[in-house]
Amino acid sequence: MEEKFTAAYKRGLQKVEYMWEHLEGFPHITRNGEWLVNQNGHWTGGFWIGLLWLSYLESGDARMGEAARERTMRLRCRMTDNTTHDQGFIFGPSSVMGYRICPQADFLPLIHAGARNMMDLYVDQVELIQAWREEGYRGISIVDTIMNLPILWISDELKGETGQKEICQRVARSIMQYALRPDGSSYHVVKWDENFRIYGDTHQGYSAESCWTRGQAWALYGFANLYRYTEKKEYLETALKLAEYFYEHLNKDKLPAWDVIFRDCEEMPVDASAASIAASGMLLMADLLGQRGESGQRERWIRRGKELLEAETELCLYQELDRYGIIRQVTVDYPRGSGIGESAMYGDYYFMEALFRLKYADNEKMLQLLY
Ligand code: GLY
Ligand code: GLY
Repeated sequence: MEEKFTAAYKRGLQKVEYMWEHLEGFPHITRNGEWLVNQNGHWTGGFWIGLLWLSYLESGDARMGEAARERTMRLRCRMTDNTTHDQGFIFGPSSVMGYRICPQADFLPLIHAGARNMMDLYVDQVELIQAWREEGYRGISIVDTIMNLPILWISDELKGETGQKEICQRVARSIMQYALRPDGSSYHVVKWDENFRIYGDTHQGYSAESCWTRGQAWALYGFANLYRYTEKKEYLETALKLAEYFYEHLNKDKLPAWDVIFRDCEEMPVDASAASIAASGMLLMADLLGQRGESGQRERWIRRGKELLEAETELCLYQELDRYGIIRQVTVDYPRGSGIGESAMYGDYYFMEALFRLKYADNEKMLQLLY
């Protein structure tokens, strides 16, 4: 990997260690550069644990391995929380990755609990997963769910069962049908009314018909990862189309505006976390294309993933240890005025995961450790 990426990766790992030494619990997002920390992992606790696992893999430092394991076990308090679809985010880079790095039986109940919680949110009439079991959120699913579906597949794989795998594929098909548009962009939200009539909308984007960049990034990564598990070619083809749209709608400096509608609009903030997620998703796609013998396509997506990482390294990497995370310029939720120009666990985790994919591009054993 090029020197600029090696240096960024090294700085990121130093920051993880610094944050681990100075913060209790789970860092979620920053406010004015200070991490907001919680004790139950919210929806981003898995990313913090994922960073601790990456740190352990790089250094072999037993303290970091123990920190990742201990934080994973703290997520036991979420095993009966079936009020959110975020089960793959919570239990993926924590328990699944933990189980692959050091196969211990005590990771397994967390993985299966995550899958069970997702199943509780499955709505058969629309073959979708409801995003949140909360007042005011009935009949709402979001495209981000595609990232959480592998927990269903993995849980069944470990148990030798197929029921959750079937639901996983039904939901993927529905997301493809209802959330994706012919031009390769996506709706953030898919809603249904009391008669199960389905329509697109948004939650964190500018408008129903615009394209929220982080949702687009989740979608491209999510479909690529689903292909990795299922080997269904249509998922990879879908990921390619979504990625193409994402890449074609970057700002001139190769960072994404927080919503595509504001491309190259200087008054509007970028969302560096969408860049992190998309970069890692593109490198995942590159690996999968390589495995299919499509070396031209592989090179193309490595190049594009690197362009995103280069822009982030130049414009968003925050060097000081004691404020912000690894990556700044994340937009958490523009419509609600929350977290603009800040850091977020997903911006940091996927930036580091993307660099990990680059570093181990020819080491399939390392890449398979990732959720
Ligand atoms: N839906 C979670 C997020 O990306 O903000
Ligand atoms: N390719 C499936 C896995 O990572 O286990």
